[in-house]
Amino acid sequence: MEIRALWPSDDRTAFASGDEVLDLFFHKYAGQNQFRHYLGVTYVAVRERRVLGFATVAPSQIDIDDLPVAARKKMPRYPLPILRLARLAVDRSAQSHGLGSQLLRFVFKLGAKMADDYGCAGVVVDAKPDAINFYAKYGFVACEALEGQSEARPRPTTMFVAMRAIKAASGFPH
Ligand SMILES: CC(C)(COP(=O)(O)OP(=O)(O)OC[C@H]1O[C@@H](n2cnc3c(N)ncnc32)[C@H](O)[C@@H]1OP(=O)(O)O)[C@@H](O)C(=O)NCCC(=O)NCCS
Repeated sequence: MEIRALWPSDDRTAFASGDEVLDLFFHKYAGQNQFRHYLGVTYVAVRERRVLGFATVAPSQIDIDDLPVAARKKMPRYPLPILRLARLAVDRSAQSHGLGSQLLRFVFKLGAKMADDYGCAGVVVDAKPDAINFYAKYGFVACEALEGQSEARPRPTTMFVAMRAIKAASGFPH
C-alpha cells in the first residue's frame, strides 16, 4: 500500500466509505481545494491504482483555552500552531484492516515534520460520535466544551493530541 499526496489524475469516483458527506468531499472538493485553492492536502492510500483511503490535512491554530486542560500546562497565550486532520476515511472494502490507523500514523509523521520545520503543538481532529473511540486509541483527548468546526449534525467533538505525545509514542527524535 502506497500513501502519497493526491494527484489530479487519481480516479476518485469509485471511493465509498459509507459516510456520504466524506465521500462527496472526496469526489467533488478534495481536488479543487488542493490544486486550485491550496487549502490543504489530501493524502491517499493506493493499491493497484485504486484509492482505498484518504486523509486531508491543513495547518491551523488553536487557543490555549480550547486545549484539553492537561495539555495547557506551560503553553503561551498566543494562538498555537497545529496540524488539523480535516477528513479521514477508508473505503468500505478495506475497513477494519488497519488502514485507518496507518493513515493516522502517516498524519502524525506529517505533524512531526511540521513541528521540526515550522512548529506544530499537536494534531487536532473534529471527531464524529462514532469515531471518538477510534481517535482515543491513538492518544487524542476531547477538548473541553469545544464543538467541531464542521457543519455536520450531531456536532463533532474536537480532539487534540500533543506533539510531545506523538513524538514519544512513535520514537521520533525530540
Ligand atoms: C473510522 C475509520 C477511518 C477507521 O478506519 P479502519 O481502517 O476501518 O480502522 P482500522 O482497521 O485501522 O482500526 C484500527 C483500530 O481502531 C479500531 N476502530 C476502528 N474503527 C473504530 C471506531 N469507529 N470506534 C472505535 N474503534 C475503532 C479497530 O478495532 C482497531 O483496533 P485494534 O487495533 O485494537 O484491532 C473507517 O472505519 C471509516 O472510514 N469510517 C467511515 C468514515 C468515518 O467515520 N471517518 C472518521 C470521521 S471523524
